[in-house]
This record gives sequence, structure tokens and C-alpha cells, in this order.
Amino acid sequence: MMRRFTITTPIFYVNGAPHIGHAYTSIACDVVARFHRLNGDDVLFVTGTDEHGQKVEQSAIAQGLAPQEFADKVSAQFRQMQKEMAVSSDDFVRTTEERHKKAARALWEKVAENGHIYLGAYEGWYSTRDEAFIGEDEVKLHADGTRTAPSGAPVEWVREPSYFFKLSEFQDRLLKFYEENPDFIGPMGPKREIEAFVRQGLRDLSVSRTSFKWGIEVPNDPDHVMYVWFDALANYLTAVGYPDLDAEKAHYWPADVHVVGKEIVRFHCIYWPAFLMAANLPLPKKVFAHGWWTVEGEKMSKSLGNVLDPKALSDEFGLDQLRFFLMREVPFGGDSNFSRRSMMTRMNVELANDLGNLAQRTLSLIAKNLDGILPDRGELTSEDQAILRQADLLPDLMSGQIERLAISDALEEVWKLIRAANAYIDHQAPWALKKTDQKRMSDVLRVLYDVIRSIATMLQPYMPDTMSKMLDQLAILENEREFASLKVIIPGGRHLPKPQGLFPRFIEEEKA
Ligand code: MSP
Repeated sequence: MMRRFTITTPIFYVNGAPHIGHAYTSIACDVVARFHRLNGDDVLFVTGTDEHGQKVEQSAIAQGLAPQEFADKVSAQFRQMQKEMAVSSDDFVRTTEERHKKAARALWEKVAENGHIYLGAYEGWYSTRDEAFIGEDEVKLHADGTRTAPSGAPVEWVREPSYFFKLSEFQDRLLKFYEENPDFIGPMGPKREIEAFVRQGLRDLSVSRTSFKWGIEVPNDPDHVMYVWFDALANYLTAVGYPDLDAEKAHYWPADVHVVGKEIVRFHCIYWPAFLMAANLPLPKKVFAHGWWTVEGEKMSKSLGNVLDPKALSDEFGLDQLRFFLMREVPFGGDSNFSRRSMMTRMNVELANDLGNLAQRTLSLIAKNLDGILPDRGELTSEDQAILRQADLLPDLMSGQIERLAISDALEEVWKLIRAANAYIDHQAPWALKKTDQKRMSDVLRVLYDVIRSIATMLQPYMPDTMSKMLDQLAILENEREFASLKVIIPGGRHLPKPQGLFPRFIEEEKA
């Protein structure tokens, strides 16, 4: 039976152009989605853009555009970024699409029908930059009289009629849910934070605004538009065809994992499950928060002019190199810093030396000494058996890591094998065997071929293009690239195309 697997990125605000942080979330989800597909699972991978709210309205006005026109423009840039980063999403939800408005309204109606929404008036602080209501106790008063949210964003006093969601009634149910589903929030830091926050007590949540128009109208009350987070979170249901429970994609709900940046965990782990509970809908199985990237030690910001464009980086270093670096540099969940130096070091040490040389040395020896014909497996020594066993274990080891979103640790499993294979090739020295023992040389090269095949197959989710080329060089057919096909030994006799280096060294480092 195919396992169904649903994964989502946050949907991106269209108030600014995509940068490396957005690419990071998208690539991480892409790696996990590709991993599951190659594992034979039935995957739905959803992303999109978050286009309503005051912040977007203000950005549009600043550019002299109508909000829809502005959203169309920036949403297209996000779509383009995904293409440039080889992000293989199955759907792209825009919150200005009709299907989404329908889903968000249906969710609202269900929650209201079940008695969890009432009309009142909101008076308090609001941060437009965070699109969040800020509690009195969280607002910081500065010496110059200005006030900011915990994120540092300015807040303003808002007073307007508003619909409220009875979030306060969900405190116990949420705590019980966290307790019964200890893996719901990952990693540990955010999990503790959220549980502590909910234990302190929850206030009802204002879920509509009347002071601006750029949003989805509240059902039966056109004076109100939905609070942008109610609207945005509903995108995950839009993707599965909600409210049509017979929709073609309905079986993809509940999601297996919502991947989010750490700053929006609260919305996903408190509001979202509460909305779903209020609508009697199944809850996602997991929300996983990843960390933030800084650049050369500084926070990325327009004012510092250090916002990294993912396209420029992939043009300079190569797309798969960039994807590899982002996934490798930091345990998924932690914060990290982008520096050119560490990017170049990883390219030269791990890609060019460790992996590139292993493949290049093996394949050119097969080309030169065996006329490029893959030999059959020979008699295996205990060293051969040991390295082959390590390769056989790789898919299961990586699956375990990917299951817990340890995207970087899963890569480390591959690198353990690569390092072992380099030790093996140095020790066996097939180049010297040519003169002394041709049969043994052929056996050793065959063992290395099998190990490299496992490595290339398992690295496809991270570096799809380069690994496709490596598998071409190994004469692995298109229908032999799923993980399961590693169980079948490739018969000898295949003609391997002329090998070509896939991981050039990055030169600047040598100058430095
Ligand atoms: N629109 C909301 C999400 C709604 S989901 C129902 C939003 N959008 S956002 O565009 O501001 O950010 C989306 C995501 O981009 C963040 O959650 C995070 O995953 C990613 N990142 C944005 N900047 C980042 C870094 N500097 N580093 C890493 N990821 C960051 O929030």
C-alpha cells in the first residue's frame, strides 16, 4: 500500500521579493517531498502566497498599484523562485484565488455554526508588520514614547468592531492534544515555549477587521474582512479541495507536516489546531519549526542591503551546490549563518573532494581499464562485504532521519558512507592492482560502483540535477532510480558513458 504523505511550506507574504530565507523553507520541504516520492509514497506538496492584509495593501499603495495587481506581480516572483530552486511542489495556492476564498469562508461558517465566533469590539495593540494582535504585557515602551512588539515591529492602538474566536475555550483541549501527541510540535525548544504559553491562559482572538478592505469578506457581514491569519491558515485546506469532502485531493488531509519558520509557530500550533477543532476537522500530525539565516553574521534586512537573492547565489555557485549547502550547514531546526567562506569550503571539501573524486576516480578507472564495461560482482572479501552492508543500510538510516525532519543528519549518514568508501578505495588501491591482479581490480571497482550507485540514488532529493547526471554516468535507467530499486543488483555488461567531473572546485578559495 502506498503511504500518503502531505507536506506544506508557509505561504509567503507578497509584500517583498523572495530571498534566501524563503528559498530555504521551500528547498527543505522539497527535499522531504522528493524523498517520499522516491520512497514510493503518494505525495502532496503544497506552497503558495499569502496576499491579503494591511501590510500587503500598504506595500501596494507605496508602489502605486492596486493590491491585486501588486499581488499578481510578487506572487509570480515566488513562483519563479520555486522554479529556479527546482522546488517540485504539486500545488501553489494563492489566497486571492476563488477556490481559496471558498475554503476560508466555509471554514469560518463551520466554526461560527458550531458556536465559536461572536461579535464584539477589539481595542488593543496591533503590529501590521507581524500581522498580529499584541497583548498589553508583550508591548515594549521605549524612551521616545514609541511602542514595539516582541519582534521589534511598531505597534498601533486599534479600536474597532470585530468578530472574536473563542480561543479561551480551547486551552484544555489544546494542552490535552499536545500531551497525547508528543510529536506534534518539533523541535523541543518551540514545543516547550508553546506549551508554556498555552498553560498561562488564552484570550479570545479577534478574527476580523473593519479598518481596511483588502481581505476576504466575512460571510454575512461585508463590513468585516477576515483576520489575515484566519485566511492564510485556511490555505492548507484549500489545497485538499475543502469544503468538498469528495474532492480528488480530500484524502491528503490531515497534513503530515507543516514546515514553518520559528517566528510563526504560535499561529500554527495554537490558532490553527483550535480553528480545526472548532470546525470538527482532523488536525495536522506535525508542525516543525526551522531556524533563521543570518548573512555574514548579520540579520538580513533591506536597510542593511544584505538580503540574499537565491537566484544570484545559484548562478554563482550552482543550484545543487546551494541546495546542498543550505541543507548541510545546520541541523534542521537551528539558526544558521550564510558566509561565502563556508559555502566555498563545503563545495571544495565535501562535494569536489569527498564525493566528486570518489565517483571520478572509480568511473575513470572503469573507463580506462575495463573499456567502460561494468563488471559482474566477484567474490567478496570481508572488507567488500562491510562497505556494501553500510551502503545497504543507508536507505533505512536516512528514512529514520527524514521521518523526524533531521534533514541535515540524513545527509551526514551519506557522508559517513562516502568517507568509508574513500578509505576503502585508498586501502584497496585499484590503480595499483592493474599490474598485479586484474581480477581483484575489477572486483574492487564493482564494489565501488555499487556503493556510488547507492549514494547517488539517495542524494537525489538534495541535488536532483547533479545526481541525475551521476546516475546517467552509472548507466542506471530512469526506472531504476527509486529507493526500492537499490535492492536489485545491476547485471554486469552495461556500457558506462565517458565519465565527466560533476563537482568543480570553487576557485576563489585557492586565491584566498
Ligand atoms: N505569510 C506568513 C505565513 C502564513 S502560513 C499560513 C509568513 N510569510 S513570510 O513570507 O513572512 O515568511 C514565510 C517563511 O519564510 C517563514 O516562516 C520562514 O519559513 C521563511 N523565512 C523568512 N525569512 C527567513 C530567514 N531569514 N531564514 C530562514 N527562513 C526565513 O510568515
